[in-house]
Amino acid sequence: MPERRIYRIASIPADGVGKEVIAAGRQVLDALAELSPVADGGNGPFGFDWTDFPWGSEYYAEHGVMMDPDGLEQLRSYDAIYFGAVGWKNVPDHVSLWGLRLNITQHFDQWANVRPVRFLPGIESPLRKADRTALDWVVVRENSEGEYAGLGGRNLSGRGPGNEVAVQTALFTEKGCERIIRFAFDLARTRAVRKVSSVTKSNAQQYGSVLWDDVFKRVSADYPDVETESVLVDAMSAKFVLHPEDLSVVVASNLFADILSDLGSALAGSLGLAASANLNPERRFPSMFEPVHGSAPDIAGAGISNPVGAIASAALMLDYLGLPAAAHRLESAVESVTAAGCRTRDVGGTAGTREVADAVVEALKLSSVPLQGP
Ligand code: NAI
Ligand code: MG
Repeated sequence: MPERRIYRIASIPADGVGKEVIAAGRQVLDALAELSPVADGGNGPFGFDWTDFPWGSEYYAEHGVMMDPDGLEQLRSYDAIYFGAVGWKNVPDHVSLWGLRLNITQHFDQWANVRPVRFLPGIESPLRKADRTALDWVVVRENSEGEYAGLGGRNLSGRGPGNEVAVQTALFTEKGCERIIRFAFDLARTRAVRKVSSVTKSNAQQYGSVLWDDVFKRVSADYPDVETESVLVDAMSAKFVLHPEDLSVVVASNLFADILSDLGSALAGSLGLAASANLNPERRFPSMFEPVHGSAPDIAGAGISNPVGAIASAALMLDYLGLPAAAHRLESAVESVTAAGCRTRDVGGTAGTREVADAVVEALKLSSVPLQGP
């Protein structure tokens, strides 16, 4: 019997519903590993060796830091990171986000953030046309610079009340634009509709956005088989609602894609559905997989959070680990669960987080989707 391939995964559930949805995702992944068959030409049996990291806002309350000072060193050797959500009322949001999530994405140069917008059967979309139109697009977010480069400062508070100033600078480098735009084109080539929509605000932001547009034009010449369009971000937000059937791959800077991907997941039915992969495509560092949503303090602890975004992020992780058949089996299991009406409250159901995870495990067992092969 071939040896089971074990993937070492760093699990960082962090705060609020992050803990619930990561538990659900791990349950599903372990069940999938149990099912992974004896190899006969495919990828073979696989398993996960999980390490729990207790970092987050509770950790901050005890230790005064969001993660261990040598945390990045600790994470470095893992095959991937499975992340929940960070943010709680005891820590200012910019401290918790920069202290943990952005610390990891920045230092591990996870410059490509892939956020699919998927419409699942049995889940009602606020879009009228969703019933009769096949909708499915991916937001590709520049994840290392742009508006979230962290450059700037506050000063002049010494002049007395009412006089402080703040500068927050967006950083656009030709290299940063080029690598994310090429990534988007390469992704488009793997999809049924080969099209890339580039989003900027180049009428108002005449430096960064125009550099991005220039690079987009230059790179697109290398992909004559891929259709292109450049759309201003305000128009694109309208297009998401009015003509989403025209979208395949949408590439945008850090801030714009962050906002647009939340809009996309709301259109699909809930923020709780959206998956995301923070990739270091060169694989010099581990990549990180996380649901798009935050810690949802309003529902945390009630066991009603939607685990689909976290489970779909686990599918993105499988794909990245070289297990695309397993990823596909997981995605179809989720589809059969939502289609059968097992849904959490945010998408009109009554099921709890655990119930949905249990149902996905059952669906995985019944599934006829092969676990091996490409
Ligand atoms: P949020 O995403 O936590 O919640 C927004 C709304 O969506 C809430 O009504 C919530 O109940 C709902 N929601 C979110 N996830 C859900 C799920 N899995 N199932 C069902 N409903 C769900 O965003 P919010 O309220 O703006 O931020 C809360 C905290 O999360 C803040 O501290 C913020 O900084 C942090 N945050 C962290 C992120 C991350 O770690 N990647 C991303 C976004 C926010
Ligand atoms: Mg966001």
